[in-house]
Amino acid sequence: MAMALSSSPIVDNLSLKGFRAPLLIDRSLLSFSNARICPIAGVSSVGRIAVMPRAVTGEQTPSLTKDDEVALDDSISPSQAVKDVLVVGASGGVGQIVVASLLDRNIKLRLLVRDPEKASTLFGKQDESKVKILKGDTRNPLDMDPAMFMGITHVICCTGTTAFPSKRWGGDNSPEKVDWEGVRNLVLALPQDLKRFVLVSSIGVTKPSSLPWSIMNLFGVLKYKKMGEDFLCSSGLPFTIIRPCRLTDGPYTSYDLNTLLKATAGERRAVTIGQGDKLMGEVSRLVVAEACIQALDIDFTQNQIYEINSVEGEGPGSDPEKWKQLFKFPK
Ligand SMILES: NC(=O)c1ccc[n+]([C@@H]2O[C@H](COP(=O)([O-])OP(=O)(O)OC[C@H]3O[C@@H](n4cnc5c(N)ncnc54)[C@H](OP(=O)(O)O)[C@@H]3O)[C@@H](O)[C@H]2O)c1
Repeated sequence: MAMALSSSPIVDNLSLKGFRAPLLIDRSLLSFSNARICPIAGVSSVGRIAVMPRAVTGEQTPSLTKDDEVALDDSISPSQAVKDVLVVGASGGVGQIVVASLLDRNIKLRLLVRDPEKASTLFGKQDESKVKILKGDTRNPLDMDPAMFMGITHVICCTGTTAFPSKRWGGDNSPEKVDWEGVRNLVLALPQDLKRFVLVSSIGVTKPSSLPWSIMNLFGVLKYKKMGEDFLCSSGLPFTIIRPCRLTDGPYTSYDLNTLLKATAGERRAVTIGQGDKLMGEVSRLVVAEACIQALDIDFTQNQIYEINSVEGEGPGSDPEKWKQLFKFPK
């Protein structure tokens, strides 16, 4: 299915909207048929989206001042030092838990949502220096203004819609639009010095034609999620893809933040991480949210794809060492 964007406004917007480094994008990349297929794991993906070196743009490289140096605390790793995390799909089941957990960790956030009022109701009054709510529909390239994302260090994207036609497809919010075009538009708008893009996808994306996935894929959800994955893999941005099994626990769509955090004591806590799209079963949304957050700080999860499920029992909680072990030895 070709998705040629030869007249797309995205590329031109990137340089128009004050993006620090002009992007040189091979337009053929924007056609899915040309997008590089990302192997299951262990890829060092070399994207064809290249950043023009500062020497070429004539831009000065800012140097650290004495104050900046003092601000860096020796006791925390560089990846934790200055996080400004963009959560996309922040109002959804997994997204809300990601937001609550990051707020609890005192991490600076930007939330990209279609309905800021809904987000304010969900997340209550927050310190604006810590949490910024950005309005945007990922399907609309013009909403994905690179200027809005400047300074973002990490992204967790948990957007999605239903696999089968439902009210949530209203206004053409179908898997094709959200899981493929939306992810593509977002990837194209992000800063090139991003430290990590964590994408929540789904198990089964590599085998949409075999049962039971062929049923799930009747309206293309797995195909479009894979297209979103492939585009991210080929973008040159450092990524981690988390493919959950069927989601349980929540969505906690009408709870406040405190309730969400208490919900982290959910039952299904014993986690299995897999690679090669072999896992089946179910996984708690709480576990998926935690996996996304943990992956941000584990260097070797960069440019890797994992599947995840969870069953009743004790699990890694939020212990970074236990998560490292799980990611290190996937099933
Ligand atoms: N359900 C399962 O069993 C299952 C299994 C495997 C994988 N997954 C995937 O796991 C992820 C998280 O699932 P979930 O159930 O937590 O998700 P969810 O509750 O359905 O939330 C989806 C989020 O995406 C946002 N969104 C939808 N369309 C958008 C658009 N055009 N622009 C911007 N934001 C948009 C929604 O915002 P609004 O509030 O504005 O609607 C919502 O915040 C999804 O990618 C899902 O497909 C689900």
